[in-house]
Amino acid sequence: RILILDFGSQYSQLIARRVREAGVYSEMHPFDMSDDDIKTFNPKGIILSGGPESVYEAGSPRAPQIVFELGVPVLGICYGFQTMSAQLGGSVVAGAVKEFGYAQIDVAVDDKLLNGLKDDNAQIQVWMSHGDKVASLPDGFTVTSSTPSCAFASASDESRQLYGVQFHPEVTHTAKGVEVISNFVHGICGCGNLWNPQNIIEMRVAQLKEQIGDEKVLLGLSGGVDSSVVAALLHKAIGDQLTCVFVDNGLLRLNEGDQVMRMFADNMGIRVIRADAENRFLDALAGATDPEVKRKIIGREFIEVFSEEARKLDGVKFLAQGTIYPDVIESAKTKNGKAHVIKSHHNVGGLPDDLHFELVEPLRDLFKDEVRKLGTTLGLPHEMIYRHPFPGPGLGVRILGEIKKEYADILRVADDIFMQELRASGWYDKTAQAFAVFCPVKSVGVVGDARRYAWVISLRAVETVDFMTARFAHLPYELVDKISTRIMNEIADVSRVVYDVSSKPPATIEWE
Ligand code: XMP
Repeated sequence: RILILDFGSQYSQLIARRVREAGVYSEMHPFDMSDDDIKTFNPKGIILSGGPESVYEAGSPRAPQIVFELGVPVLGICYGFQTMSAQLGGSVVAGAVKEFGYAQIDVAVDDKLLNGLKDDNAQIQVWMSHGDKVASLPDGFTVTSSTPSCAFASASDESRQLYGVQFHPEVTHTAKGVEVISNFVHGICGCGNLWNPQNIIEMRVAQLKEQIGDEKVLLGLSGGVDSSVVAALLHKAIGDQLTCVFVDNGLLRLNEGDQVMRMFADNMGIRVIRADAENRFLDALAGATDPEVKRKIIGREFIEVFSEEARKLDGVKFLAQGTIYPDVIESAKTKNGKAHVIKSHHNVGGLPDDLHFELVEPLRDLFKDEVRKLGTTLGLPHEMIYRHPFPGPGLGVRILGEIKKEYADILRVADDIFMQELRASGWYDKTAQAFAVFCPVKSVGVVGDARRYAWVISLRAVETVDFMTARFAHLPYELVDKISTRIMNEIADVSRVVYDVSSKPPATIEWE
């Protein structure tokens, strides 16, 4: 396994993903990981990430010296290369020219890192993003490539297995980035190709059996990707010892509850308790109009309903959760006070004190794309694994203002028509998230000779990778036309359909 020490670059997580895509397990930890923890981790290689700081500034972060003393290969990327150079006797200066974007490096030496990657002109296209640069290399290092403005685009000391690159092999813009990472983890560190869905499942099943033994496990199943994969994995590992609770809060999409039951209970034979709590949620929400208040009520009711079901079960020792690696990384950053990103959508609080469970989190070290591959390998259907995200409060934040059953019923049908047409036209997979919004205003329409005043539905579809920024999807007008016509014809209470052309920022993806 490979250890990645994080100096805070926006690309750090990508390094971990690329290493895993190369078939090798990797974990990312803060750069100041203790010597003992590093030894316990027992890495076959270490990667030092990039970072926003300058090595020559007082108090800037350094790699623990032990990194260079363990005798395992080390790859420094950008800041990681600079601090490695500085720590081993070289020097770093502010570059006269900052380099951002594409660059061609001229390869001078084919070391094991760049081996076999240069083109016919002895160049490789890479992605640069740096202001500082290495000015002199430590003793024993040889320069392996350069650009006109960066004399040391990469360098290595092969006798000590130390490698440094100024460019970013982890971003897709670097043409042979995957190969650079692969050369490091396979060619240099000698790692095997063991990190693949089949192996992960086998390892996880064995670990789960070991951790759980004969005990019983409870899982809150939402039908989303993460909890579904946890359910499938646990079912494979411990069969009947698993009980799932699925809370139908009345704010789900059309027929969603039935679909979840059919798939998990009927098809897979998993014990799923369906808590039909629509009335309870709607009663609790009556009169609430503020989005944050609505979120809190929905979160609180969820905990209560879930706890009541849990109390009815006897002798459950474990609670399973679909926590995934990005959640772990984010909350670790927050604890250290280094939060760059605030994950604000935790709507569900903790369980009450009388319910003591030990946690089972079998996806805790997996990225979303790995969770999806696991799910596919476990036999979950494509539509489930590649679903758009659906917020915890569900339609509760897509019905603007006060929530009423009448509104939810209209919205469900409109949303379903939208989804049907997106799937039929191939646009579902081209958008990251799409949904309908219920606008509680009446607008005039005309049916036959009569004027009717009915509700407005807004369609929202966005393209995004990280959900932090998003562009409204440029759906073809013919498609929008078809959807709007169907919604207005098939739902008597809707007189008007609009398409949301706002991008994020300044708009958000959801309307509340
Ligand atoms: P916004 O609206 O903030 O949404 O641009 C970004 C992503 O977060 C989802 N979202 C939520 N998810 N509970 C959730 O579980 C929430 O309260 C919530 N609000 C927004 C939203 O669907 C989008 O994917």
